[in-house]
Amino acid sequence: MKSLKNICGYIAVPLIAFVLVIGSALFFIFGYKSPETTTPNDTGMKMVIDHDGGADDALAITMSLLYENYFKGPKVVALTTTYGNVDQSQATINSARILELCGRSDIPIYAGATQTLISGIESDFYFGYDGLGDDGYTRPEPVTVQDVHAAFGLIELSKKYEGELIIMAIGPVTNIALAIRMDPDFISRLAQLYVGGGHIYSEKHSTPEFNADMDPEAYYIVADAALVDKVTFIPFSQVYASLNITKDWRENVLGTIDTPIMKALNGYERISFNTSSGWTLLDPAVAAMVLDSTVVEEYRNSSNGMILCGDQRGINTNNLTSSEPNSRLVYSAIVANYKKLLIDIYSAELTKT
Ligand SMILES: *[C@@H]1O[C@H](CO)[C@@H](O)[C@H](O)[C@H]1NC(C)=O
Ligand SMILES: *[C@@H]1O[C@H](CO)[C@@H](O)[C@H](O)[C@H]1NC(C)=O
Ligand SMILES: *[C@@H]1O[C@H](CO)[C@@H](O)[C@H](O)[C@H]1NC(C)=O
Ligand SMILES: *[C@@H]1O[C@H](CO)[C@@H](O)[C@H](O)[C@H]1NC(C)=O
Repeated sequence: MKSLKNICGYIAVPLIAFVLVIGSALFFIFGYKSPETTTPNDTGMKMVIDHDGGADDALAITMSLLYENYFKGPKVVALTTTYGNVDQSQATINSARILELCGRSDIPIYAGATQTLISGIESDFYFGYDGLGDDGYTRPEPVTVQDVHAAFGLIELSKKYEGELIIMAIGPVTNIALAIRMDPDFISRLAQLYVGGGHIYSEKHSTPEFNADMDPEAYYIVADAALVDKVTFIPFSQVYASLNITKDWRENVLGTIDTPIMKALNGYERISFNTSSGWTLLDPAVAAMVLDSTVVEEYRNSSNGMILCGDQRGINTNNLTSSEPNSRLVYSAIVANYKKLLIDIYSAELTKT
């Protein structure tokens, strides 16, 4: 894919068309196979977490599973994996490892995109080469994954749980973009799609955000198909501005909760603890706002887009005064509510039965 860089408008369009034609053909051949699910369909909300396998994803996943268990949160019905912090196969291994940690190996894993639609940036391995702190963990046997690609899984789940499915996307949005282009009704069947990524452009945030820059075409497709009542963007710029937590709080308050899950999370973050000065992570912030809207201070409507060409490639745009917004975004959040939620969630195993 490297040779395809800087091809704006030339190879990009035919290549995306090619991917979609092949994708649709595969869908008609294999796509109608119903994914395995073990749970009855009830009236509560369901959730899929689409993620890229880092320690920050582990936080978002464990938060969601504990919230489901102790706070009647949405039922997590699948994890879908993509590349990002680590490659897709490592993200898939990490999914199984995190589910096992939480005693939730019943949740199906769909393996998804292995690379960008066209081109993106490389991982910085912020959380280690394995995404979870490089502690030497190796998996004894291969992970059992569903027999359809994550994009097909997302489409099937959106049909099975029409109007009840929340998707929390906390990596590059390649799987979401593929699902959208294979099924134009995909977004409208969801309860809500939350996308963690992008920035509101400012002097302070004048370069692309990691998830958006990993696959700008995918982000473009999601913004292009977004509907104001169905899609919420959570820009990293707003998380930086509102939810800036110190490393001291993470290590010496949250990190001291004496449960196997918190101990594991501390280990997953051991590399990033050493290299970062604060503790401002996107994925757990997104999970907090998806699970508990009191963490959000202000939503605003926006006409959201993505710049694909030129030296601003990867920078997303927001028109907050647009008369035709295509999405909602989180403009600000309340740090005290975020911290309280984190404490409540991770100590629930100790205080609730
Ligand atoms: C976050 O807070 C720390 C101090 O606790 C400060 O040094 C840092 O610049 C802040 N970061 C942002 C993005 O505001
Ligand atoms: C973190 O830094 C300390 C002090 O430099 C070092 O002893 C430790 O090995 C580092 N841990 C990791 C996981 O890199
Ligand atoms: C955003 O737009 C929707 C649909 O037009 C509207 O119902 C909602 O009140 C708006 N929200 C904000 C925060 O302006
Ligand atoms: C934002 O939207 C408003 C109203 O739709 C429009 O007048 C304005 O030109 C837009 N701004 C930009 C920068 O596109």
